[in-house]
Amino acid sequence: MSPFADYLQHCQERINRHLTAQLVNQHPLLDRLYAAMRYSVTIGGKRVRPLLAYASCEALGGEFEQADSAAAAVELIHAYSLIHDDLPAMDDDDLRRGQPTCHRAYDEATAILAGDGLQALAFDWLAKEEHYSPATRLDMIRLLATAAGPQGMVGGQAIDLGSVGRKLDLATLEDMHLHKTGALISAAVQLGALASTRATPEHLHSLRSYARAIGLAFQVQDDILDVQSDTATLGKRQGADIARDKPTYPALLGLAQAQTLALQLRDQALESLEGLGANASRLRQLADYIVQRRF
Ligand code: IPE
Ligand code: IPE
Ligand code: MG
Ligand code: MG
Ligand code: MG
Repeated sequence: MSPFADYLQHCQERINRHLTAQLVNQHPLLDRLYAAMRYSVTIGGKRVRPLLAYASCEALGGEFEQADSAAAAVELIHAYSLIHDDLPAMDDDDLRRGQPTCHRAYDEATAILAGDGLQALAFDWLAKEEHYSPATRLDMIRLLATAAGPQGMVGGQAIDLGSVGRKLDLATLEDMHLHKTGALISAAVQLGALASTRATPEHLHSLRSYARAIGLAFQVQDDILDVQSDTATLGKRQGADIARDKPTYPALLGLAQAQTLALQLRDQALESLEGLGANASRLRQLADYIVQRRF
């Protein structure tokens, strides 16, 4: 098995090629919209959700190419969620992935439409992927729609915005994080499993439990990095949560306890994979990466 750093790079290059090749304007009046969409999708990003989709497909014995569209679709939803998250009406951020946010590089209306466009394209790409049977496509679309919508990411974002300046209890904070970030992470893992065409209900049960733990851990670590890291490393403004009085794990538990929780969640995730064999090693390494990452 290649070292994890090589694997990361391999998957990142693979998904970047796929996204760049698919996201092409074919209408002369849409240059600006497509430029904004491509800007937001291709300027960087760790590609954690695609990585999880590939690793989950691999864990069940599937090939990389089977997971390309699943990986791309969830990354499009993620990219859209970041564009909207950064808008003045939401987190009002000017820096993302080390570059001006979409509404700063373009304008607010274009950023809103770029997000809308990416969201629709995610479902379009799944709907027309011939690697998957019509029934699998429908399952994937439903899964991603639920994870992206009010029962998932959008619901979590609504709780987040409604909670600014308030001190949430731990259960509410967990619920918010599981929705705003955990839902798409879980979708990535499940889409990768469906893409393999070998997922049994037992596999999906283990993978959902893994994904719940790493999805929550991912946002706990994001909150920790807002306190601990710096703007140059993060590629987004350090201290943005503190400045906006956002409810976060470090704010509620303190930094040390938040770090302990992230590691406990990583361990829970690893336990969930016990029934899966050696093919799940990349998922195990990704669980570690999610809590060890510096940006
Ligand atoms: C940032 O996500 C937003 C959260 C859900 C915490 P990522 O940390 O995955 O951002 P990129 O894609 O690597 O820029
Ligand atoms: C964002 O959470 C979650 C999304 C659904 C985009 P944050 O607001 O903490 O993400 P960052 O820190 O801006 O990347
Ligand atoms: Mg936010
Ligand atoms: Mg934000
Ligand atoms: Mg954050």
